[in-house]
Amino acid sequence: MTTAPASFVKGLEGIVAAQTEMSFIDGVEGVLEYVGIAIGDLAKHSTFEETVYLLWNKRLPKKQELEAFTKELRANYALPDGMLDRIRTVPKQAEPMHMLRTMVSALAMHDESPNDNSVEAAREKSLKILGCTPAIVAAFDRHRRGLDPVAPDAGLGFSANFLYMLNGEKPTDAMTRAFDICMITHADHGLNNSTFTARVVISTLSDMYSAMTAAIGSLRGPLHGGANEGVMKMLNEIPTVADAEKYVMDKLAKKDRIMGFGHRVYKAKDPRAAELMTLAEQLARDTGNMDLYEKSHAIELVMEREVASKGIYPNVDFYSATTYHCIGLKLDLFTPMFALSRIAGWAGHVIEQLDGNRLFRPKAEYVGPHAVAYTPIDKR
Ligand code: CMC
Repeated sequence: MTTAPASFVKGLEGIVAAQTEMSFIDGVEGVLEYVGIAIGDLAKHSTFEETVYLLWNKRLPKKQELEAFTKELRANYALPDGMLDRIRTVPKQAEPMHMLRTMVSALAMHDESPNDNSVEAAREKSLKILGCTPAIVAAFDRHRRGLDPVAPDAGLGFSANFLYMLNGEKPTDAMTRAFDICMITHADHGLNNSTFTARVVISTLSDMYSAMTAAIGSLRGPLHGGANEGVMKMLNEIPTVADAEKYVMDKLAKKDRIMGFGHRVYKAKDPRAAELMTLAEQLARDTGNMDLYEKSHAIELVMEREVASKGIYPNVDFYSATTYHCIGLKLDLFTPMFALSRIAGWAGHVIEQLDGNRLFRPKAEYVGPHAVAYTPIDKR
C-alpha cells in the first residue's frame, strides 16, 4: 500500500479517519441523521432504547425486537457485586466524571472475559456498560449526599430508572420524556473527539472497557462534553437577563470563548440545539426557571449578531444546560448525563471499528533540529 504524502492538519480538521453507518452530519445545512432518520423525528417520536437499537442494528426494531432489546438492557441495570462497595470508597468531593471514568474502568474486573473482542462479546459488554452506568452515577450522587443507593427498577425504562435511582421516587412522565429526549439527542455524533478516542483505543485490539474509559476522559474536557457545565456556570454568573449582552460583549472583547457555541463541523445552528431549545423553554416554564431560558436566549441573540458570520451558533451543550437544571440535576452531573447517552455511540463505533479493524497510527511531522552533537553533562 502506498503512503499518502504527509501534510499536517491541526486538529485533524476535515480529515476522514473512519467510516460509519450510524450518524450523518451536514454541518453547512445543520442536519443530523441517525441511520438516515432526522434527529428531530427521533426526538419527537422515538425512545432512547429504540434509538440505541437503531444505532447498533442500523434499522428500527419491530415491536417484538424492541421488547426483547429493552428486556436485555433492563437485565443489565444492576451493578456487579462489589461495585457499590467500591463507590462508597470514593471521596465525596470527587468530581462525578472522574468517578465515572474510574468505575467504568473497574467494570472490566467484574467481566470473566474482558478482552474478548468478538462482535457477540462486544455487544454483550455494550449492553452491560450502557445498562449499569446510570446506577453508578446515581449511587455516587446519593453516597455524597449521605444516602443509601436505590436499587434499579427493571419495570422502568432507561430514563425513568435513572431518575428513580437518583431521587428515590418515580419521575413524572414529563420529566422522563424530557430526559429521554436528552438521551436521544446525545447518543451519537460522527467522529467527535471521544468517539475517535474510543476507536483509536480499540484499534490496538485492547478491550471495550479501555475504549469506554478513555472516551469518558475525552468527553469531560470543556471543549467537548464538559461545555454543558461551563454553560450553566456562565448562566449563574449573569445576574439578570439585562446583563447578558454586556457579559457576552466583554467576553468576546477579551477573545474568551462562550461555552455552548461553535462547532468544528456545524457552521449553522446545531439541529440538536434547536430541539433542546424548545424543550428547555417548555421545562423552564413548567418549573419556574424562565430566567435561565431568557438569559440563554438573550446570549444567543447577541452571539448571532456578533459572530454568526463566522459560523458560530449554539451547539448541543447550550440549551442542554437549562434542560438538565430544570430536570433537577446538579451542575456536575451534566457531563455524566452526556456520557450515559454517548456510551451508545461509543459502543457502536467500537463494534464498527472491530469489524475490519486497522490500527490507527498516524505520523507526527518532526519540526525539531537534526545532527545535534551530544554535549557531556559537565559541558552543558
Ligand atoms: N465563543 C467565541 N468565539 C469562538 C467560539 C466560542 N464558543 N468558538 C469558536 N470561536 C472563534 C474562535 O475564537 C476563532 O476565532 P478567530 O478565527 O477570530 O481566531 C474561530 O471561532 C474559530 O475557532 P477554532 O478554535 O478554530 O474552532 P474549532 O473548530 O477548533 O473549535 C470548538 C470548535 C467547539 C472547540 C469551539 O467552538 C469552542 O471552543 N466552543 C466552546 C466550547 C463548546 O461549546 N464545546 C462543545 C462543542 S459541541 C458538543 C461536543 O462536541 O461535545
